Amino acid sequence: MHKMIGRVSLLVCLMASCCQSLDQTITLSNGRKMPVIGLGTYRATGDVIYNSVLTALDVGYRHIDTAYLYDNEKDIGRALKHAFSETKIKREDVFIVSKLWHTFHSRPLVTEAIEKSLNSLGLEYLDLYLIHFPFGLKEGTNETTPVDPQGNVLFSDVDYVETWKGMEDVLSKGLAKSIGLSNFNHEQIDRILSVAKVKPVINQVECHPYLNQKQLKDFCSERGIVLTAYSPLGTGRLLNDTVVLEIADKHNVTAAQVLIRYEAQRGVVVIPKATSRKYIEENFNVFNINLSEEDMKSIDSLNQNLRYNVVDYAKKNKYYPFNLPY
Ligand SMILES: NC(=O)c1ccc[n+]([C@@H]2O[C@H](COP(=O)([O-])OP(=O)(O)OC[C@H]3O[C@@H](n4cnc5c(N)ncnc54)[C@H](OP(=O)(O)O)[C@@H]3O)[C@@H](O)[C@H]2O)c1
Ligand SMILES: *[C@@H]1O[C@H](CO)[C@@H](O)[C@H](O)[C@H]1NC(C)=O
Ligand SMILES: *[C@@H]1O[C@H](CO)[C@@H](O)[C@H](O)[C@H]1NC(C)=O
Ligand SMILES: *[C@@H]1O[C@H](CO)[C@@H](O)[C@H](O)[C@H]1NC(C)=O
Ligand SMILES: *[C@@H]1O[C@H](CO)[C@@H](O)[C@H](O)[C@H]1NC(C)=O
Repeated sequence: MHKMIGRVSLLVCLMASCCQSLDQTITLSNGRKMPVIGLGTYRATGDVIYNSVLTALDVGYRHIDTAYLYDNEKDIGRALKHAFSETKIKREDVFIVSKLWHTFHSRPLVTEAIEKSLNSLGLEYLDLYLIHFPFGLKEGTNETTPVDPQGNVLFSDVDYVETWKGMEDVLSKGLAKSIGLSNFNHEQIDRILSVAKVKPVINQVECHPYLNQKQLKDFCSERGIVLTAYSPLGTGRLLNDTVVLEIADKHNVTAAQVLIRYEAQRGVVVIPKATSRKYIEENFNVFNINLSEEDMKSIDSLNQNLRYNVVDYAKKNKYYPFNLPY
């Protein structure tokens, strides 16, 4: 009898470990495949990001995350152009994501905005276009963050539901293959879903063990929306966490690898940003790490709903997303 139970649990064990194997891509609700690990590119411009993108493609990344805000679409475009002409990598092999900035929220401006991004990137289409945040800023200036003479940020009152219609326009024009959201809370997602002709496939949000987004992840998952984790290393601030380091030691990997694998293993797309070859390689090399259920639970228990990207200036705006628990 004991032997029998032993065998059954061994079998369960084997099955469980087999389910931990990680696919390189996740299938979105529209049937398109998105690579689980992407290169984050915020705060890197010029030749730095040009080289990082080429390194990442060389290492095996097939997903690049950028935004109009990051002011690096031209440099990423240069890198892609180089890769498409000098390597075997083709446009259709790479999943490229950009985001609609706050000053382009009215419906007709969405098309203008994506055309700007496409023009900078030197591309015909994006694989995924996201509304960067639910609130809008004053339109028609060339400022990314327009302010009045006193320095107060100037908002627009465009409802993100109107913006979503603009997102559906760029989808139907073929300028983006998929459309989604970023920094939306669950009520805002449901408002979008109540009017959407096309559902968002992604919500990209800050996500790491100190803000693991369990509720939002479950909520989105019930609606066929996949989460993308931004700042998965807590912008570097989680790399010295004792629990993460212990697990890393046990598996002979780095803290960054544990943090990235954690997200991927729970079905979350993850976009660590790195500029050096060492980090870029390390962050991609997580497909052969198997965190145990116990490891996953220990990491889950680190949650403290600690958000780093609070966006203070928008706290009083009616569309500010972070006043709700999730
Ligand atoms: N949708 C949004 O509102 C939003 C907001 C924030 C970020 N994002 C996206 O998410 C991406 C990632 O988030 P993030 O850039 O905020 O932070 P992150 O990926 O959590 O951390 C990046 C920092 O960690 C360092 N790092 C990377 N790999 C490392 C490693 N293996 N060991 C030690 N240090 C390492 C990087 O160094 P180096 O820079 O020196 O290489 C950088 O300082 C962004 O780049 C952006 O694409 C989106
Ligand atoms: C992790 O699990 C997969 C699937 O069972 C297996 O192929 C791989 O060798 C394991 N990796 C490690 C490092 O144990
Ligand atoms: C914005 O910049 C463009 C190009 O530099 C310029 O043609 C346009 O007049 C500017 N618009 C405003 C409102 O400043
Ligand atoms: C990690 O480092 C930060 C500052 O660099 C510090 O505030 C924090 O206490 C450290 N955490 C641990 C667990 O050592
Ligand atoms: C631990 O990882 C390093 C770097 O990947 C490798 O060189 C070393 O052989 C590994 N040690 C063990 C015990 O697996």
